[in-house]
Amino acid sequence: MQLSPLQSRLAASLLASFLLIALYLTLFSPHFAIAEDVPGSSTIVLDNVDFSTSEPRGLLDPIYEAEFSAFDRGILGRAPAGVTALTNNEAMPMNAVAGSTQRFMFTVGTIPARAISEASLELRGERDGSQRRSTDSEEVEEELAPEADLDGLTKRQLAQLVYISANTCEQPRPVAASNTTADPPQLTLYVSKTDANQSPGPLADTDSQFQANFTEGAVMFNLTVSGDVYIGVYAPNATGYTGQYNFRVAASTDGYFYTYNERDDADLIWVDSDAQGALLITHNLTESTDPAVEEKIMSTQPYVMFAHNSGDKSINGLKYSYCGLQNHAQIAATKNGQFTSMVSTGMTKRGQGNLPKQQFFFSGLNSSANYLGILARDGNSSVSGNGLVGGGGHVFKATSFSTKSDHGNCGIVFNLTFCDQVAYSVPSNPNFGNSTQLAQFYDDYAKTMYENFNKSLQQVACEAPSNQRYSLARNCSQCAQAYKDWLCLVTIPRCEDFDNPAPFLHPRAMDQPFPNGERLGDAAWVLAEQNNMAAYNTSRNPRIDEIVVPGPYKELLPCEDLCYNIVQSCPASLQFSCPLPGQTGFSSSYARRQGDELSCNYPGSAHFTSSAVRLAAAWVVPVVVTLLGLFLV
Ligand SMILES: *[C@@H]1O[C@H](CO)[C@@H](O)[C@H](O)[C@H]1NC(C)=O
Ligand SMILES: *[C@@H]1O[C@H](CO)[C@@H](O)[C@H](O)[C@H]1NC(C)=O
Ligand SMILES: *[C@@H]1O[C@H](CO)[C@@H](O)[C@H](O)[C@H]1NC(C)=O
Ligand SMILES: *[C@@H]1O[C@H](CO)[C@@H](O)[C@H](O)[C@H]1NC(C)=O
Ligand SMILES: *[C@@H]1O[C@H](CO)[C@@H](O)[C@H](O)[C@H]1NC(C)=O
Ligand SMILES: *[C@@H]1O[C@H](CO)[C@@H](O)[C@H](O)[C@H]1NC(C)=O
Ligand SMILES: *[C@@H]1O[C@H](CO)[C@@H](O)[C@H](O)[C@H]1NC(C)=O
Ligand SMILES: *[C@@H]1O[C@H](CO)[C@@H](O)[C@H](O)[C@H]1NC(C)=O
Ligand SMILES: *[C@@H]1O[C@H](CO)[C@@H](O)[C@H](O)[C@H]1NC(C)=O
Ligand SMILES: *[C@@H]1O[C@H](CO)[C@@H](O)[C@H](O)[C@H]1NC(C)=O
Ligand SMILES: *[C@@H]1O[C@H](CO)[C@@H](O)[C@H](O)[C@H]1NC(C)=O
Ligand SMILES: *[C@@H]1O[C@H](CO)[C@@H](O)[C@H](O)[C@H]1NC(C)=O
Repeated sequence: MQLSPLQSRLAASLLASFLLIALYLTLFSPHFAIAEDVPGSSTIVLDNVDFSTSEPRGLLDPIYEAEFSAFDRGILGRAPAGVTALTNNEAMPMNAVAGSTQRFMFTVGTIPARAISEASLELRGERDGSQRRSTDSEEVEEELAPEADLDGLTKRQLAQLVYISANTCEQPRPVAASNTTADPPQLTLYVSKTDANQSPGPLADTDSQFQANFTEGAVMFNLTVSGDVYIGVYAPNATGYTGQYNFRVAASTDGYFYTYNERDDADLIWVDSDAQGALLITHNLTESTDPAVEEKIMSTQPYVMFAHNSGDKSINGLKYSYCGLQNHAQIAATKNGQFTSMVSTGMTKRGQGNLPKQQFFFSGLNSSANYLGILARDGNSSVSGNGLVGGGGHVFKATSFSTKSDHGNCGIVFNLTFCDQVAYSVPSNPNFGNSTQLAQFYDDYAKTMYENFNKSLQQVACEAPSNQRYSLARNCSQCAQAYKDWLCLVTIPRCEDFDNPAPFLHPRAMDQPFPNGERLGDAAWVLAEQNNMAAYNTSRNPRIDEIVVPGPYKELLPCEDLCYNIVQSCPASLQFSCPLPGQTGFSSSYARRQGDELSCNYPGSAHFTSSAVRLAAAWVVPVVVTLLGLFLV
């Protein structure tokens, strides 16, 4: 009888195995733990044999498995001593003392052991002329083929892109915090794909490995491989520091498990702050105006956020690490973050374009302090954790923001009902009430004022056919919108600290005491005396002085174009007019836009850093009409 190569190999293996098992049974009592001590190559062969379960399937299965395991440790996810095997999309936590290198390996196409044994059964099945395998095991075959070299079946091994990423969760602490200015050194990632260098690290041949430095506690590295990848994570010696590193490393063939974004413009925008709180928003979460898409996004809260006092160094070196921030950021707006009561988050459509954004409101911050706000995504934002592509999360570049002084007479309001574009600090007084009551006070007043205008607008022939309307270019709804935008920003002044020296800010209510009873000294009045005293002595709206009594503050004046927009959008019969620069009233009523700086207030304004966000309209010189019923100053 002629045996095929496979059959003869099977016969040889069977014979060898029976001999080995006989030897094993005669020399040792059949306790598996002892079996592991058998020296020489037999250890490898017997290693995977489980006598308790192999019985019903016969002795063939373990032999086949043993053969594969002897040839390719990687496929079964096993690695040499001291080397940790990585599984696709699973983060491996590891401690590292300074000066050591932790070693890992990853094999492209690593699959569960069960799938291997099924595949090996099926391999035999095909030799017997059985059915074709499923696509799943086809992939397996391609991985096994070069190793097994079954009967000339060798196929080109699949070259795949492997994504390696890691996050530093803990790093050494300085021995003498007050004397240490530098941050702890960053970990270094070494990657080798040649079997000649199975221990990549600082001491290995640099030509046989790649090196990638961690940045702020995170690293992302990709390479194309067709077999094993060897990974070393080196913890440098750090004089003056104590404690060890803890990091998580993950390899994947689908995408990075941990990611960060170093782009220049931060993804988080600081809207405004008061003495204890700050409001931040994300960029537009979609450009789509499809109501279904918008509604879907509005029902989610895709981001989490961390905030940390810039003066505190404990997150230095970890700013791109999700777990590092989770462990060390002072405030974490995550599912189980620190001081969650200090943060509230929600969705809003406020701002240019009325597109969905997520907003974060922090309270309980220190006054006159600088903070870092760091936006992040937990996993892919709906689910996170091992087994998911990108399950480790994403960290964005930090945004700086600061809180106001402790005068306490500027208070953030947002989520207003009528003036829905208003979200900034307004003249306030700690004795007036909480943020909700303050928002209500301003919003109600603006709404009342709007009703007067709404009545006047009803007198205009808004519904007339287009040739009889007041304008071919504008209609009544645009007039109403322009008026509302202007009215909300004029009746709800944007408040800044009285100490803020910016030249475009206008001092108000200087005659009042601060909430703590202090009054301004004579020096503060010099400017007021050279100008229109009334504009400095009082608020823009007398009700603020009577009811809120904020004390001295500075107003970020509305942008002049808000006024021009009314004149252009509304019927001439309403007789709106605006003061022009240089005319009486202009400098105490409006300010002009100056580059990227937030030099005047407009609906949806914030401390944007990108020059992309600017009103592109070039304003026509407005017609000055005599001021009648409606003041625009
Ligand atoms: C790190 O420190 C250890 C022990 O102090 C020393 O043996 C080793 O050579 C150092 N490594 C480097 C790269 O300085
Ligand atoms: C910090 O440095 C100063 C001067 O170099 C030294 O006197 C002091 O002991 C150091 N502090 C600590 C905690 O090491
Ligand atoms: C990593 O850092 C080391 C030392 O700080 C530097 O020499 C090396 O060029 C860096 N490598 C990369 C890829 O940035
Ligand atoms: C792989 O890394 C390089 C830089 O090393 C980068 O330019 C490239 O975009 C990365 N590829 C992917 C798919 O992430
Ligand atoms: C603001 O209002 C929205 C919608 O009404 C709500 O979901 C959110 O919790 C409120 N607060 C914040 C901080 O967004
Ligand atoms: C949102 O989109 C609108 C319209 O495209 C744009 O004008 C606005 O600047 C965007 N807002 C942010 C915060 O990016
Ligand atoms: C506020 O300041 C105190 C004292 O400086 C500090 O301990 C605390 O961490 C700060 N809190 C925040 C939220 O910044
Ligand atoms: C996150 O991953 C899960 C599972 O893969 C998927 O069902 C979900 O749609 C993903 N969510 C997002 C926002 O991509
Ligand atoms: C503000 O005060 C009102 C009335 O005292 C109370 O009903 C409301 O819950 C408070 N709101 C907040 C956010 O504390
Ligand atoms: C303005 O008046 C019209 C007609 O009376 C009314 O339908 C509309 O709701 C009013 N608008 C506001 C914002 O009050
Ligand atoms: C007014 O004009 C705008 C823009 O041209 C248009 O979207 C809107 O539907 C018009 N409103 C009315 C009531 O005609
Ligand atoms: C400011 O106005 C108050 C009344 O509102 C008045 O009594 C006071 O004299 C004014 N102060 C100055 C310096 O004009």
